[in-house]
Amino acid sequence: MPSKVVVGTQWGDEGKGKIIDILASRSDVVVRSQGGNNAGHTVENETGVYKLRLIPSGILYPAVDCYIGCGTVIDPQSLLVEIDELTARGVTCERLRIDTRAHVVMPWHILLDSLAEDARGDGDIGTTRRGIGPCYMDKAERTGLRIYDLITPGELEEKARRIGRLKNELITKVYNQPALDLDAIIADYKAVGERLRPYGADVSVLTHEAYKAGREILFEGAQGTLLDLDVGTYPFVTSSNPISGGVCTGTGIGPTMIDQVVGVSKAYTTRVGKGPFPTELFDQVGDAIREKGREYGTNTGRPRRVGWFDAVILRHAVRVNGLTCLAVNKLDTLCGFDTLKICTAYRRPDGSVIKEFPPAFEELEQCTAVLEELPGFGDGDISGARSFAELPQGCKDYIARLEEVCGCPVRMVGVGPARSQNLER
Ligand code: GDP
Ligand code: IMO
Ligand code: MG
Repeated sequence: MPSKVVVGTQWGDEGKGKIIDILASRSDVVVRSQGGNNAGHTVENETGVYKLRLIPSGILYPAVDCYIGCGTVIDPQSLLVEIDELTARGVTCERLRIDTRAHVVMPWHILLDSLAEDARGDGDIGTTRRGIGPCYMDKAERTGLRIYDLITPGELEEKARRIGRLKNELITKVYNQPALDLDAIIADYKAVGERLRPYGADVSVLTHEAYKAGREILFEGAQGTLLDLDVGTYPFVTSSNPISGGVCTGTGIGPTMIDQVVGVSKAYTTRVGKGPFPTELFDQVGDAIREKGREYGTNTGRPRRVGWFDAVILRHAVRVNGLTCLAVNKLDTLCGFDTLKICTAYRRPDGSVIKEFPPAFEELEQCTAVLEELPGFGDGDISGARSFAELPQGCKDYIARLEEVCGCPVRMVGVGPARSQNLER
């Protein structure tokens, strides 16, 4: 059975949740391998709209097992809220398993994320303030608390108090803020740990067993390629590896277990948070795309920055992820414009043209987009199309040009948020 990785190719929010949900209908297991509740994945089905943060987007299918791997960071309170919300809507989370190696986001991580962002002033990253960066910092420093510590009786108190005392030194002496109440935190987290105990597992072993049994596995990426800590627009990135390679370390599997890598992109580009964005639109066209595409953060509600499709970014994503195909969402949002533009290269300040994504954000900041103009799709509504053949010629030409400039086949095209609005080729 082939296993597939689904990754974001841009700065996140490409519509990965929708694609995972569609592919999960033909899968047995869905695994998250990195990030935490900084993610917001929207799934729309006949029972409503679901906004998932940590729980894999396969959870809406009763027969699909959902695992959260060792490379994730887990805010246990947020996770329990998510479990409770789903349960209240009739979705069972009994098939959810969490790797006991995954790290726990503690209240000091959340507080320090905000304090560090405020201290950066205008130089802030624009994080989701969910404690993600500080939690991964502690993991790398080898002072983090794991799900094992949270759910194993007798493991949490002493460790949490020792670490918490040091964090309080930082909070009170560096940031001049009141100390956190460690007794209250420990009591809360002990209770939370008890509720999460049944979910603890070795996801590496479970995933291998599923693979050996011939079950179809889907690895759900969060964030996107340009938010990758190593190959993204550092420092305007998240603190994990959203690219396909992150699936191996974040799940505990080897690369030979991955057969296909699906890159999800929008038919244009968006970004939340700070950092360079060469095709960004500051005019009425940008505002129109934002309103039409309802480009506001799933998780934080922040307005998303909007720009034209950028093939330089996509070629970078094809290379660093080893993409085997693309899923292009939100083609419907581009209807009604007279002309459309795509970026095929960047121009440097000295006039030279580059085709590869520059490694340093300082270089990227100096680049301007070389844009190619394409005819619009007309004023018609394409959201009712149920096959690629039905689309207007302008749409077909646009997708054909994207394939050409990205060097990757487009296998799925989105014309709306629902399952039925995904056109497979
Ligand atoms: P994710 O983080 O990659 O899962 O994406 P988000 O859920 O944060 O944002 C994508 C948004 O676009 C959601 O509101 C989806 O319902 C919506 N969406 C996905 N595909 C399409 C599409 O083809 N057309 C339209 N109009 N909306 C879409
Ligand atoms: P999904 O999975 C879009 C961005 C934040 C900020 C940067 C660092 O829904 O695509 P962090 O809180 O991770 O330290 O913030 O990363 N960011 C996302 N942007 N979609 C996401 O997830 C994101 N997760 C983090 O806005 O710029
Ligand atoms: Mg999102």
